[in-house]
Amino acid sequence: MAIRQIITEGDDILRKVSKPVTSFDDKFYELLDDMKDTLEKSGGVGLSAVQVGVLKRVFVISLNNCYFEVINPRIVKTSGSQCGQEGCLSIPNRFEDITRPKFVTVEFFDRFGNKMSLSATDFMARAICHENDHLNGVLYIDYLKKK
Ligand code: CO
Repeated sequence: MAIRQIITEGDDILRKVSKPVTSFDDKFYELLDDMKDTLEKSGGVGLSAVQVGVLKRVFVISLNNCYFEVINPRIVKTSGSQCGQEGCLSIPNRFEDITRPKFVTVEFFDRFGNKMSLSATDFMARAICHENDHLNGVLYIDYLKKK
């Protein structure tokens, strides 16, 4: 287990599309464990693999004493909308009001390859959307430009 360096805005890798996880091996578990350590140390809510320089479709979220490892996610349902403050570990010391769905359902795999489904609301829904965007090279500040 180790803390990895978090890549910040300006590095092209944050704009790349991550690839699906295909091998659930020791190297992948090491990545997951390191992401947990790195997120814990950062004090953030979520971290995607691309933020530590690995273009794999995986993110982790730590919220309200719950910890989630989300692999190969697919957002299958969204509804409603909410506006609230959002930040990103790759864009330090900046927070902006961003509109997101109020409810999301995401299908994904856990680290053992089990298929999972999670429905979330409010801030958890926001975190899932934010992290899922990272896997597609999208940063939350992109939504400011679209206004
Ligand atoms: Co982020």
